[in-house]
Amino acid sequence: MTSTPFIQLSAKTRAEIDRNIAKYPSNHKESAVMASLIAAQSEVGWVSAEVIAEVASILGMPAIAVEEVATFYNMYDTKPVGKFKLVVCTNLPCQLTKGGTAAQYLKEKLGIGFNETTPCGTFTLKEGECMGACGDSPVLLVNNKRMCSFMSNEKIDALIEELRKEASLVANAAEGKSA
Ligand code: FES
Repeated sequence: MTSTPFIQLSAKTRAEIDRNIAKYPSNHKESAVMASLIAAQSEVGWVSAEVIAEVASILGMPAIAVEEVATFYNMYDTKPVGKFKLVVCTNLPCQLTKGGTAAQYLKEKLGIGFNETTPCGTFTLKEGECMGACGDSPVLLVNNKRMCSFMSNEKIDALIEELRKEASLVANAAEGKSA
């Protein structure tokens, strides 16, 4: 039986994982699994089987145990996602205060459904669980980090415009570098 090859995480990511491991007793390296997956996902863009295998090796854990963590929490992406992952809370308290309306508006605006990515690769839309900000509904999270509150259609328009510009700036810079 062949084992899954590693992704070969960068020295920067390995150092970040090591910093997280150092926060726990040396016989409990597995306690750093969530932070390690976040670090690896930040570099690679998603948590592939290779990422799981490498994180498992670093932490001395069975790959299946790391995979269980990666598939349990929805902040980890076990499939490739667009440059911007938008997670809209559709739990009941938000549904009662226009969370569903915001989700529907985003679907129509981006032309995709939940768990889909726009053909240009810029946006992935996902449905999220309660983010602890029910009073700010509709809420959405950009790339697991940026919380956006009270997302009216106008605020969604402005956000999408801003992110589209950012994506195009990055693409132009990349083209300029390779020209
Ligand atoms: Fe949506 Fe709590 S139910 S943030």
